[in-house]
Amino acid sequence: MMDLVISDKVHDESRQGEALLLEPVAGKNNGRKLYIESYGCAMNFSDSEIVASILSEKGFETTTDYTNADVIFINTCSIRENAETRVRNRLKEFKVAKSKNPGMVVGVLGCMAERLKAKFLEEEKLVDVVVGPDAYRDLPNLIDQVDSGQKAVNVLLSREETYADISPVRLNSNGINAFVSIMRGCDNMCSFCVVPFTRGRERSRDPFSIVNECTDLFDRGYREVTLLGQNVDSYKWTASEEAEGAIVNFANLLELVSQINPDLRVRFSTSHPKDITDEVLYTIAKYDNICNYIHLPVQSGNSRVLELMNRTYDREWYINRIDAIRRIIPECAISTDVITGFCTETDEEHKETVSMMEYVQYDFAYMFMYSERPGTLAAKRYADDIPEATKAARLTEIVALQQKYSLVRLQAQIGKVQRVLIEGFSKKSKNDYCGRTDQNAMMVFPVDERYKPGMYVNVIAERCTTATLMGTIVG
Ligand code: SAH
Ligand code: SF4
Ligand code: F3S
Repeated sequence: MMDLVISDKVHDESRQGEALLLEPVAGKNNGRKLYIESYGCAMNFSDSEIVASILSEKGFETTTDYTNADVIFINTCSIRENAETRVRNRLKEFKVAKSKNPGMVVGVLGCMAERLKAKFLEEEKLVDVVVGPDAYRDLPNLIDQVDSGQKAVNVLLSREETYADISPVRLNSNGINAFVSIMRGCDNMCSFCVVPFTRGRERSRDPFSIVNECTDLFDRGYREVTLLGQNVDSYKWTASEEAEGAIVNFANLLELVSQINPDLRVRFSTSHPKDITDEVLYTIAKYDNICNYIHLPVQSGNSRVLELMNRTYDREWYINRIDAIRRIIPECAISTDVITGFCTETDEEHKETVSMMEYVQYDFAYMFMYSERPGTLAAKRYADDIPEATKAARLTEIVALQQKYSLVRLQAQIGKVQRVLIEGFSKKSKNDYCGRTDQNAMMVFPVDERYKPGMYVNVIAERCTTATLMGTIVG
């Protein structure tokens, strides 16, 4: 059974499997071609840009055709079983290419590499290199090792690595939106989740390097940054002793980035219900260029299930955070993640997830059936005892419900004028532009030659589907 994913926002799985392009640094071309493919969350896509930067320094050129690559990297995700299955199937295709070109190096990067470590080399004989998310600086050495006839593994996790000094090569970029990593790892131990094991301890990146990267992006014409972390609300950076140990928290960081330029839109993902503070909400409300959109994963609407999930909040706490958002930022769009059929979840408990969705009326939701991950707390403690058919039926029910609310939320925008950042032509037609509203809704509208991608326009919403607004530029 496939996961169902609604809408195409930040950790959009439809981006999975993109080939990423990079230009060689002038004068350093080493004559070898690299092909990178990324799966999973925005963090992985952002990491591939760091990998590209490290290898372009060594003179690698890229190709979009893996069959003629000298090095193939696949940056992997372990979040659910089907994410791993997808990677294994892709490796089978790489195996065919490698049989025709035995000198080809095949590397597995990212979360699956970290989860399986050297076992990967036994399980998938074609793989030459296995590299975890904190070891990308070592890639040039590891490739040398493979060139000299050995297999190579580096899956050391770090308490410090943030790649702060590496300026990512922007891959497949429209030159307008960019992801900026502000922290790595996760210290929460949600019982279903593999991320703390694949990404290690939480650490925050130096705010000055973040502001510099965003400033540089703005100077190069980018108009939107998305600050990335597994739990951005626990961002915390302590200054040196000379600065008297001043602390920069997430609200402070948001403010710093928003002050770069009023024309730079600031988005962020993911917020955690236990950590999102009123200070963060007031900061969003204070700056027009911090977008009114919060992704606040609920996972379940039932307090007993939330406790088993080790989410460290209950239903009342979550509702309190939703109410605070509605009070402080009345126009804010809210999206969520939901898991159906977690261990021991009863029909009544599932109904509380349904009633939570009715209460909040989310703008979007990413919805998944529970997938047991080896090594997690839930896998150790609880039986995965909800039949697949029940998980699927609960999923189908909430997907239908969410379709309804996605439509309701977009319909409420009709007749209103929205400020839209033009991202490019719409997928369907060169006669239309597309871009997102402050609240992250996709708007499609006829091209007007006076305006180009990267510019802001006011658009009146006239019609909508469950996923897209359609309108016309005004004024
Ligand atoms: N750090 C983010 C989530 C990262 S993973 C947060 O805490 O909200 C993205 C989503 O995948 C999670 O929110 C959860 O809904 C889903 N997910 C994670 N592990 C899962 C599993 N074992 N089975 C099904 N869905 C899972
Ligand atoms: Fe996983 Fe929970 Fe961390 Fe999110 S906060 S990455 S769900 S452990
Ligand atoms: Fe992201 Fe998947 Fe890893 S969601 S953090 S790439 S397990």
